[in-house]
Amino acid sequence: MPATAVLGMQWGDEGKGKITHLLAADAQLVVRHNGGANAGHSIVHEGTRYGTHLLPAGAFYRGTRCVLAAGMVIDLAVLAEEARQVGEALGWEPPVLLAENAHLVLPYHRIIEGLEGSADRLGTTRRGIGPAYRDKASRIGVRVADLRSEELLVERLYIGLTAARSSFPEAQELAALSAETMASGLLSLARPYLGSIVDAGLEIEKALTRGEHVLFEGGQGALLDIDFGTYPYVTSSSTTLAGLAAATGIPTSVVEHRIGVAKAYVTRVGAGPFPTEIDDEERANAVRERGQEFGVTTGRPRRCGWLDLPALRHAARLNRPTQLAITKLDVLSGEEELFVCTDYELDGRRIGRFPLDAAELARCRPVYESLPGWDEPLSAVTSAEALPRSARAVIAAMEDAAAAPAAIISLGPAPQETLRMGF
Ligand code: IMP
Repeated sequence: MPATAVLGMQWGDEGKGKITHLLAADAQLVVRHNGGANAGHSIVHEGTRYGTHLLPAGAFYRGTRCVLAAGMVIDLAVLAEEARQVGEALGWEPPVLLAENAHLVLPYHRIIEGLEGSADRLGTTRRGIGPAYRDKASRIGVRVADLRSEELLVERLYIGLTAARSSFPEAQELAALSAETMASGLLSLARPYLGSIVDAGLEIEKALTRGEHVLFEGGQGALLDIDFGTYPYVTSSSTTLAGLAAATGIPTSVVEHRIGVAKAYVTRVGAGPFPTEIDDEERANAVRERGQEFGVTTGRPRRCGWLDLPALRHAARLNRPTQLAITKLDVLSGEEELFVCTDYELDGRRIGRFPLDAAELARCRPVYESLPGWDEPLSAVTSAEALPRSARAVIAAMEDAAAAPAAIISLGPAPQETLRMGF
């Protein structure tokens, strides 16, 4: 029963898209288990670049089935458009199974996100993610299973819409919505999927029993986790290994390989404390440009920072990676001097931990070690031994912090720009 999970070890945008795409080539079932269209995966498949939000990386391989599991909030309009675009480019419609207990992102969720100002306050992606998860927790959400009956769907939408209007009684956009119109819109978007609504946990279990390779594809990263991230500057789902289990009903003990994906530096989009943020604008811009650090979902420039080992240690505790996939090492080529944060200092004392309290984290000062940089491009390097000495030192520091060996080192966006060490 080989099951592999790909989990983000930073603030999302670690390059999970490329890694899941590589690993999905050997998988029969690929499962997205958290988040929704807030995620943005950048994938190069057979020379063409795709930006996907909901379709798992398995969608690019004929015969690989994809599952959107219960921990997700699914925007059917985004899914339909993405499936159409990718399907057109590939020449077949990727088969996607929807978990009957996954929740739907509804038109009023995006409106509420706009009205409550979380995009300005927290830097959310305006995809209705927070309000959709809030309705789930309040038990007024609409689930995929509700698409089976128009009558039930209208009833559930009515409950959700009434709650939305009661929070924002003045909002014209909410007043203009009707449960009936939303239901018919959703049903027309859902038509291609109505025969593919399943108990996803059971499907995964059956695949594992048949000895198929199941690949779990995490959205976002450990530091955006609703509980263990930098709250409130986090997303609304559980982005860690534990979240995978909660979202699928598949225990973590089944997940034999846990690939922690981490960049050789760090980025984050949106607001929130970011101890190793590069404050020299010119330098930050250079990293951003070389790494093309602009959001796939929002196009926003990402904040860039030096490698943060306390944060990586924290993520490793949460995800227990068996292997690391280190990405974007090539982006550091051209830096005269590199910095690696080994600890934080708070009120003049080294603390040896990653504070969960965002206010405390904001007061932390990074303790840096510096390394000489290198000039040569890395994309054509074919073995880890041939990497510059400082690049090897960065890898070793990450392996030590995560207590896991690097099994994949990514040196560029294309699949061939990758070193694979026994995985
Ligand atoms: P939300 O998920 O749209 O509610 O946004 C909450 C926070 O998570 C914001 O700071 C977003 O920028 C961030 N976020 C959500 N999804 C991703 C992602 O896939 N990559 C990076 N950041 C993300």
